[in-house]
Amino acid sequence: MKKQLLATLFGATLVLGACGGGDDANKDADKDAGGDDAVAFNIDDAPVSTGSCVSCHGGNFEGSGSNPSLQKVGAKYDQAEIEDIIINGTGGGMPGGMMSDEDAAKMAEWLAEQK
Ligand code: HEC
Repeated sequence: MKKQLLATLFGATLVLGACGGGDDANKDADKDAGGDDAVAFNIDDAPVSTGSCVSCHGGNFEGSGSNPSLQKVGAKYDQAEIEDIIINGTGGGMPGGMMSDEDAAKMAEWLAEQK
């Protein structure tokens, strides 16, 4: 009887130990993913005013609703393509002409580096 109790306790300890280990691994993975994003993108680094963009793309360009996040837009388009989008807009809800061509070029150069 005593032996059986010990065996049960030992088994429970093993199970708890295994769960704890799993949680730690998950926490580390979450931390890495979140940390990288937080460090990689900061709208305060933008070279020109983002005032006409944040109402749609979010206060830190994180996106909202049908407005895409711009935090990794450099992985999708190169500088020339982004400049074209900012100046001419798209047929999909992105208005053009909100920045001077000069500002659009600076903005595109910076956004192209965000990936
Ligand atoms: C009226 C809302 C609105 C405003 C203001 C706006 N955008 Fe957009 N933007 C959009 C939408 C919607 C899309 C997606 C368009 C599409 O897919 O055709 C988009 C797409 C983009 C894209 C391409 C992203 C992608 O993943 O395809 C870039 C780059 C971009 N916007 C930059 C800007 C910049 C820079 C500003 C400020 C000058 C700005 N936007 C202002 C709505 C907006």
